[in-house]
Amino acid sequence: MEKANPKTELKSKEINFIDIFEIKKELKGLFIGKNLYYEEKVDSTNILARDLASKGVKNGSVVIADYQQKGRGRSGKLWASPCGCNIYISIILRPKFNPETAQGMTILAAVSVADAIVEITSLQPQIKWPNDILINSKKVSGILTEMSTQNMTIEYIVVGIGINVNVPKEGLDTDIKDIATSLMIESKIKNSSDSLINRNKLIASILNKFDKYYEMFLSTGLSAVLEQYQKYFGMMGKKIEINTKGKIVEGQVVGIDSKGALLLKTGENGLDKIVSGEIYF
Ligand code: BTN
Repeated sequence: MEKANPKTELKSKEINFIDIFEIKKELKGLFIGKNLYYEEKVDSTNILARDLASKGVKNGSVVIADYQQKGRGRSGKLWASPCGCNIYISIILRPKFNPETAQGMTILAAVSVADAIVEITSLQPQIKWPNDILINSKKVSGILTEMSTQNMTIEYIVVGIGINVNVPKEGLDTDIKDIATSLMIESKIKNSSDSLINRNKLIASILNKFDKYYEMFLSTGLSAVLEQYQKYFGMMGKKIEINTKGKIVEGQVVGIDSKGALLLKTGENGLDKIVSGEIYF
């Protein structure tokens, strides 16, 4: 058996451990992440966050895990969540705004993740509407936002973020190997560097960005956040097919409206506003 180089091993271990103190040290925001809950292993950080939220934990609390046994993706799919390499976090919000406005939180999270990737790596992320983060056209991160309402008011929102950070190519599930990637895989292609990405710094950066955009959103609405979203939006002019509420719509992407809905040119003069859906290129 090959002998491990103690120096390399120590470095990769340091980077590979989620360290709440290191994350806290980097936090600059006013309230996102002031309460951090860390569990090594959970079914899903979103499930734990919903549970904590229903028990009354503070606005801005964040759940972090190293490993999810039942990581949840959009449309009832599973989110592959191996241990020791990726990011699984859920942010709990208790806003006073209208439930219809909650869709904006997904936009906010997507921009925060993209900004953080730019800050911590040398990669160029793109956003596939509404909330997939791609690197070189492959998915590296997904967001699952869930909400609980009572009498038309928001009880809580949980914004779940999953990022493939240091998972190697052989660690990706076979069914997603061709469409998914990780930050480390892409960094290796770009710089041929094998070094691991510091998950603690990346988590702190996401929470700092989210805190900043959330403040902006509360004071001026979604417009400033959407401006940033447009910078990462890689779909303008593309012809797409989208499954929206069980119906397939074909069209050309012509923009995003002020609430984050996708604007599609359909046929000669048609314009469809898509609020939710799954895009097939
Ligand atoms: C998608 O399908 O694109 C959304 C994936 C969201 C995964 C994250 S990982 C942290 C949080 N907990 C979950 O169970 N899901 C979200």
